[in-house]
Amino acid sequence: MKLHISRLSLLAAALVFSLGFQPARAAPGETVIVALGDSLTAGYGLPQDQSFPAQLQAALKARGQNVRIVNAGVSGDTATAALQRLDWALPDDTRAVIVELGGNDALQGIPPEGTKQALAKIIEKVQAKGLPVLLAGIEAPRNMGKEYVEQFHAIYPDLAAQYDVLLYPFFLDGAALHDGLMQRDGIHPNGKGVAVIVDKMMPKVEALLAEAGGNVDSASVGKALLEKNCARCHSITATGASPLAKAPPLRDVYRRFPVQELESGFAEGMGSRHRDMPQTQFSTEQVSAILNYLGSITGVPPSQRPRSDLPEQEAIPP
Ligand code: HEC
Repeated sequence: MKLHISRLSLLAAALVFSLGFQPARAAPGETVIVALGDSLTAGYGLPQDQSFPAQLQAALKARGQNVRIVNAGVSGDTATAALQRLDWALPDDTRAVIVELGGNDALQGIPPEGTKQALAKIIEKVQAKGLPVLLAGIEAPRNMGKEYVEQFHAIYPDLAAQYDVLLYPFFLDGAALHDGLMQRDGIHPNGKGVAVIVDKMMPKVEALLAEAGGNVDSASVGKALLEKNCARCHSITATGASPLAKAPPLRDVYRRFPVQELESGFAEGMGSRHRDMPQTQFSTEQVSAILNYLGSITGVPPSQRPRSDLPEQEAIPP
């Protein structure tokens, strides 16, 4: 473990100089998100184009989002070390921040309270700039003992609730413990593992983009979600016919059903007809993004749609 850490800090030094810093100015229309983290963000052991920031940016571009992800990962960084470099890690045009830290704290056995305080200060500083945060959690290794592991685990949901920020509970979810997705150290994901992480985290990143507002409007997030999950059967444009004849165009569905029903339908999955779909449930933020998009193509925003067509107390005939 010791050896590993010192190797990481050496690499940290190397990274600070070699990564240099990406141009601080956003191209027109581009949304800049800073990924603040440790080696998991920096892309330890990976070619730069396979790092988390690079793969996340490519995935967002493929979904039509004009986003640049700044790699502000420094291998070996604890939460406290990242707090110390925070001021210069955020370019002026930053619109949102992903915080992925704590793994080195756990490896070094830093008391969870200290990690929590440093993360809290990071969130406070980012929020003081008016920027939304997506907090990604990490788990402490089992050999730290049950009490430590539990206290450490609680840091992330506690902070997310306290500061009302988006939470992605476990950064390595889907990759950790999968041999084919991790590097030989068992700590860092390989390129394929990062792809899994990016895919799993995407809904939260899209929610972060929606919070970042500005040129990334909620409707375009909704459009991207529908394109990815629904367009293979339903028409999602204002005029197009559905590729699958029996699937109604979603603009018609939007017109026909009260908003409340759509909200609960999209949030809870769309029933048995959609059983083979990769995604049948959406978060609250995603549902509102979808409804905003459907509102934009029908010209009737969700706020102007009837809340419910159902009569208050309809007597059921015996
Ligand atoms: C594999 C094809 C397929 C995909 C993908 C798909 N749907 Fe459907 N959907 C259908 C079909 C077919 C129907 C009509 C079924 C029926 O009425 O019996 C339908 C019906 C619906 C209805 C109900 C409309 C009504 O009139 O009752 C809604 C709402 C809906 N889909 C939303 C979605 C959303 C949102 C997505 C993307 C998350 C999606 N669907 C993805 C095939 C699909």
